[in-house]
Amino acid sequence: MNMLKYFTIALLATVVSAAPSLAQDGSKSRESDQSGSQKKDGAMQTDDNGVREGKALFGTPVVDGKIDDIWKNVPAMMTDRQVEDENSLTDGQTISRASIKCLWDDGHLYCLAEVKDDNISGEAYEDWDQDSVEFFIDENMAKSGSYDDDDAQYRTTAAGVESCGESSNGDNYTSKVSKVDGGYIVEASIKLKTKAGKKIGFDAQVNNDPGSGSRGSIAKWNDTTNETYQSLDDIGVLELVKPSEFVE
Ligand code: BGC
Ligand code: CA
Repeated sequence: MNMLKYFTIALLATVVSAAPSLAQDGSKSRESDQSGSQKKDGAMQTDDNGVREGKALFGTPVVDGKIDDIWKNVPAMMTDRQVEDENSLTDGQTISRASIKCLWDDGHLYCLAEVKDDNISGEAYEDWDQDSVEFFIDENMAKSGSYDDDDAQYRTTAAGVESCGESSNGDNYTSKVSKVDGGYIVEASIKLKTKAGKKIGFDAQVNNDPGSGSRGSIAKWNDTTNETYQSLDDIGVLELVKPSEFVE
């Protein structure tokens, strides 16, 4: 009995002494994520409300669906938030996610989505139910509950078909798709309507048909709802970093 009591106390002591060091490590890594200086990677921040802020670097890629060297140093943003209400994946079906990078120059935002999708399907009727990637832009970062003139939603399917939201103008959007092992790449050019050089609202969405002919999952960078197409209040933030502000 006494021995058991001794071991229980010893075990508890070990757990209690381990706990603070885990917490310290966790908060340390969060603090270093939030350091204001921009790094080559891992430069994304998340505020206390879970809103993410990423960075677009200055540069002009060739939009051909191939990954030029200019993308190499751009920090990646993962669409690792799943829209739970839209999840109908069954056992053995996997969510499709993308790594998103953004560049900008005077008048444009460029987005590169490297999508992992183990079963590419264009079976569904609607573009957003097919394997596809969407970009949401809120140029004045008003995060409004409906789309204003400066807001836009653009989409490209894995088959390369472009579409946009009801109040967006498809003329402002061009994209190219390449199929790669285990997925596809979407490279897009978005014409901005206002003068850039500041923070804008931004999100990216990956729609996935697991092969059933209907959408089984949605993965996003920031917003965890399926409402971004009509309300921008849960959109993330993208800083258009000026060339002089980039620190390697
Ligand atoms: C949403 C769909 C919606 C569509 C309209 C997508 O982002 O996920 O549910 O019908 O936008 O454009
Ligand atoms: Ca798929």
